[in-house]
Amino acid sequence: MKNTVATFRAAKGRGSLAMLTAYDSTIASLVDECGINGILVGDSLGMVMLGYPDTISVSMEDMIHHCAAVRRGTQNALVVCDMPFMSSQCGVGETLRNAGRLVKEGHAQAVKLEGGAEFADEIRALTRASIPVMAHTGLTPQSLNALGSYKVQGKSIEAAQKMLDDARRLQDAGAFSVLLECVPAALAARITKELEVPVIGIGAGPDCDGQILVWQDMLGLTGGNTAKFVRRFADIGNAMRQAFCAYKNEVGAGTFPAAEHCYGMDEEIIAKLK
Ligand code: KIV
Repeated sequence: MKNTVATFRAAKGRGSLAMLTAYDSTIASLVDECGINGILVGDSLGMVMLGYPDTISVSMEDMIHHCAAVRRGTQNALVVCDMPFMSSQCGVGETLRNAGRLVKEGHAQAVKLEGGAEFADEIRALTRASIPVMAHTGLTPQSLNALGSYKVQGKSIEAAQKMLDDARRLQDAGAFSVLLECVPAALAARITKELEVPVIGIGAGPDCDGQILVWQDMLGLTGGNTAKFVRRFADIGNAMRQAFCAYKNEVGAGTFPAAEHCYGMDEEIIAKLK
């Protein structure tokens, strides 16, 4: 089934929307084959693909390049592309221009924009320009320098009330969906119940309308301390490490390539070579 912003809206209240990140066409096509509803070309690509310590250095060019690759590998999932840091923070005009590039050059079908109600004008302008927006609130990793660290958001009464008010205003501004990151489950449940648009959660408990994970996290490719909300659905990292080591050892031992991996040729031709 083809996923669109309309099918996302129609899935409100079912808790069934499944999203994953992807950054290239090979992974996108695998994800797409499984019937995943939405693929996010997240700016997490800075950390899981490009080796940056955070998402702040990711550029518009990075996002366009990876989003176009994901679109080439995707048939049915809705492709949402992150607006990277400082592409949506310099006013409405600049935000429109940058989102337009993600759609025209990266072939994104929607954009995701980090921040609270202070970005309502930008979301209104993008919606007016027929660019669907997924609003991302709760923990917003692009604000790392202002926050100090990645931590659960909305635990005090003031912070929880602000997040609920922000979510309402993001919806009112036209966001077709709201993504909540690192939010206590009870608060995410309250926001999900309140909003008419689907809420996608990451570290926001089971009561959202859908879930999203970074594919490298859920397949065990990211080492070190992964967040509490990550579940490893497979340990592909170890399987890959074993395969890389086996390849290196076989090349060293001369057992790869074997006869079945070689192209044949008429021996007489070889013999005639001067
Ligand atoms: O960039 C990203 O992958 C994200 C997800 C963590 C939601 O924003």
